[in-house]
Amino acid sequence: MKLLAIESSCDECSAAVLEDGSLKSVVISSQLVHSEFGGVVPELASRAHMELIIPVVEESLKKASVTKEEIDSVAVTYGPGLAGSLIVGLSFAKAFAASRGIPIVGVNHMEGHLYSAFLEDDKPEFPFISLIVSGGHTMLIHVKEPYSHELLGQTRDDAAGEAFDKVAKLLGLGYPGGPVIDKLAKDGDPRAFNFPRAFMPRSANSWSSESFEFSFSGIKTSVLYLLRDLKYGTENRDDKVVRDICASFQAAVVDVLVAKTITAAQKFNVRSIAVAGGVAANRGLRESLRAAAVSMGMKAFFPRPLYCTDNAAMIGIAAHFKYLKYGMVSDLTLLPTPNLSLSF
Ligand code: KG4
Ligand code: ZN
Repeated sequence: MKLLAIESSCDECSAAVLEDGSLKSVVISSQLVHSEFGGVVPELASRAHMELIIPVVEESLKKASVTKEEIDSVAVTYGPGLAGSLIVGLSFAKAFAASRGIPIVGVNHMEGHLYSAFLEDDKPEFPFISLIVSGGHTMLIHVKEPYSHELLGQTRDDAAGEAFDKVAKLLGLGYPGGPVIDKLAKDGDPRAFNFPRAFMPRSANSWSSESFEFSFSGIKTSVLYLLRDLKYGTENRDDKVVRDICASFQAAVVDVLVAKTITAAQKFNVRSIAVAGGVAANRGLRESLRAAAVSMGMKAFFPRPLYCTDNAAMIGIAAHFKYLKYGMVSDLTLLPTPNLSLSF
């Protein structure tokens, strides 16, 4: 079974080829047009997808040494995401499927992140807890078996990646903020400033309705007030202070993510934790969650950074699980669904 997977929900244009659930190739073209605007510009994103989609698909077929005639099915992200961006990938996938007379599987982008850990040789065991941390989402999910999900909690305001991006903007560090804060945090003191940790579980074995909910907007406001007090940007541009702010901010975000994820794994008595989304590339999060999991007799799985950010390989692996459970589930009436929520 040779599957072509397409992902175009935001600013990454990506295609992958999988054979019986095993990855043969993945091509990701990150759009650079957005960097000067400090965030993704939807209209520019859809135009760039239109230019990129055919060369990206052709490259993925070439890398997998597969011809388009050999492809048996197409998987495509149909939401959530930017409407104009989704339309490009979905229209291409429908045209490809219709012209070849092969089936199409619509995949929820978040379910792609959820199953991304299965792209690696060392895979989580079902049931597991999934932590999805990206620029748009922060979610804890109990995955009981393939395609049986329970959403435990999500952010009430900013997503974790959004908090990194906003704090980086306050510090004048550019966009996206996560990688640069991660780098500066390495040489800073995480105890220099005490930023708030919202809704922390009271103890490892007690949970409340807020235990699996997140809130990151308070940390960002706290950084803003600190910078005001320090008169940052006018009299004070001390590099050490910037590194200490980055380290202290990152420690606050990581503490919350780790405590809640471990508490969820304890509550549902699972031994595997799978982390996904752009923030899963964070060095501090990887180190702390790995260590916390080991100390509790659990194991944390982090896909390689390439599979943490948006990519078509994760759409292909999710389609594989979906196909095993439901058979081919979509047809050419599939519509782009920008606000699509996770299925349960
Ligand atoms: O999953 P993703 O590529 O796109 C979506 O939002 O769907 O995630 C992008 C987010 C950005 O907010 C970026 O700042 C953050 O992931 N990010 C990181 C790191 N690398 C990317 N955040 C913290 N540490 C990193 N190393
Ligand atoms: Zn994503």
